[in-house]
Amino acid sequence: MTPYRIAPSILSADFTRLGEEVRNVITAGADLIHFDVMDNHYVPNLTFGAMICAALRPHTSVPIDVHLMVEPVDEMIKQFAQAGADIITFHPEASRHVHRSLSLIKDAGKQAGLVLNPATPIHVLEDVLPYLDMVLLMSVNPGFGGQTFIPNTLDKIRRTRALLDEYTQQSGRHIALEVDGGIKTNNIAEVAAAGADTFVAGSAIFGADDYGRVIKEMRANLAQISA
Ligand code: DX5
Ligand code: ZN
Repeated sequence: MTPYRIAPSILSADFTRLGEEVRNVITAGADLIHFDVMDNHYVPNLTFGAMICAALRPHTSVPIDVHLMVEPVDEMIKQFAQAGADIITFHPEASRHVHRSLSLIKDAGKQAGLVLNPATPIHVLEDVLPYLDMVLLMSVNPGFGGQTFIPNTLDKIRRTRALLDEYTQQSGRHIALEVDGGIKTNNIAEVAAAGADTFVAGSAIFGADDYGRVIKEMRANLAQISA
């Protein structure tokens, strides 16, 4: 049975009460905290930096999954590694030297991942698979929460899953496959069936009154897939 992970994105949390929001969503069953870093340069929006990550670290008993939507990436990788991130992912278009940026993450002892936009082809993964712990497929264009899931992503998830399975067979190493954008209780099972194992959900969870109920419903829908 696939160990599915649910990663609430605090992009949709109440920023006036971030520590409490993180604690509440962990109590509600979050497996990871997804931390969306936007710079108004790589994406047309601005969120939070490494100081906020460091401030939240003591409130966070699960891994922090930092999604860097910044350009350039290397300095931010160093700052977030220092701030207590556990997983650091970035967009290959935002790094002049993707291998160097991945090595920076690995050398800091963190898990590394690449994020592919809806129009980014999966072949960018092929030559760096040994450096990857996670692949993050965007199912919306990055920059904003609350967008609609792009249906073509399902086929891309299937193709990425096949590539990663082939790599696991050769190497014995597992690489997580995360999907981000527009994931709700009513489509999470489809996304899992296509081959994803880690699910970012921002507005679906933080937009609800009862975070635990949404996470529970997501898990119930996921359980039907692996049954
Ligand atoms: C978009 C972010 C997502 C976003 C997901 O650039 O990377 O993590 O918060 O939000 P929802 O789940 O609302 O689509
Ligand atoms: Zn994200």
